[in-house]
Amino acid sequence: MFNNLSLFNKKKKDTTRTAYEIVTMTRPQSFIAEEYRTLRTNIQFSMVGRKLKTIQFTSSGPNEGKTTTAVNVAVLFASQGKKVLLVDADMRKPSLHTVFQVSNQKGLSTILTDEKPNPASVIYPLEQNHLFLLTSGIQPPNPSELLASKQMNILMQYFKEHYDLVIFDLPPILPVTDAQIMASKVDGTVFVIRHNLAHLNEVLQAKEMLQRVQANVIGAVFNDKPHNKKMSGTYYSQSEK
Ligand SMILES: Nc1ncnc2c1ncn2[C@@H]1O[C@H](COP(=O)(O)OP(=O)(O)OP(=O)(O)O)[C@@H](O)[C@H]1O
Ligand SMILES: [Mg+2]
Repeated sequence: MFNNLSLFNKKKKDTTRTAYEIVTMTRPQSFIAEEYRTLRTNIQFSMVGRKLKTIQFTSSGPNEGKTTTAVNVAVLFASQGKKVLLVDADMRKPSLHTVFQVSNQKGLSTILTDEKPNPASVIYPLEQNHLFLLTSGIQPPNPSELLASKQMNILMQYFKEHYDLVIFDLPPILPVTDAQIMASKVDGTVFVIRHNLAHLNEVLQAKEMLQRVQANVIGAVFNDKPHNKKMSGTYYSQSEK
């Protein structure tokens, strides 16, 4: 899976933030939207014969494209008629409320700290009742503890009962434990690697950390790679753990 060393260029990418564009919505005919469709198809292949209802997106370090990828994949599954819930489980540096330009006053952290939580009251319906959004909520002091809590297990059960597919956007693996904690709660983990940003040793370290918690890594996405035929395909299925 990680054998193309030349892709790990030492030159640092300029990841200055720009407003999010959801290309699968705004430019569905574009090359990049097509690449996301390929990714969705590959995830679908992983689902065959397996219970794969909850999926998290993570990476070794920041800015690799976790949020962008999770959003586009969620949009594409929803466009196929699946009832999809997109959850901002990055309670440290949340983005999904910015992507969809909604309030983040209430969200995941609210449900996880309420004595009588009502998830439906904080979930936004987005696209023709197929795509739903749960933002992160106000930043809590203890995101890892909240994700590891019994309340989170109960919430996962609620998600599974009410949605066909639940996609979680996580923080990166190396700086914080959140994605490792969630790896044991979700059915599959997708690992995003950004061309010219990720360092091979960090990617390998993150992979090891996921293995340690027996994460089911269903694949890796090479994000932001140059467009050429030799490197076509954003998704490499991973059979080994
Ligand atoms: N393939 C791409 N081409 C161009 N810009 C991209 C691409 N992927 C992501 N970006 C941009 O890079 C920035 C970081 O992307 P994104 O927020 O998806 O990364 P992230 O891994 O979720 O970051 P964080 O670690 O902060 O959560 C955003 O401004 C996004 O629009
Ligand atoms: Mg993000």
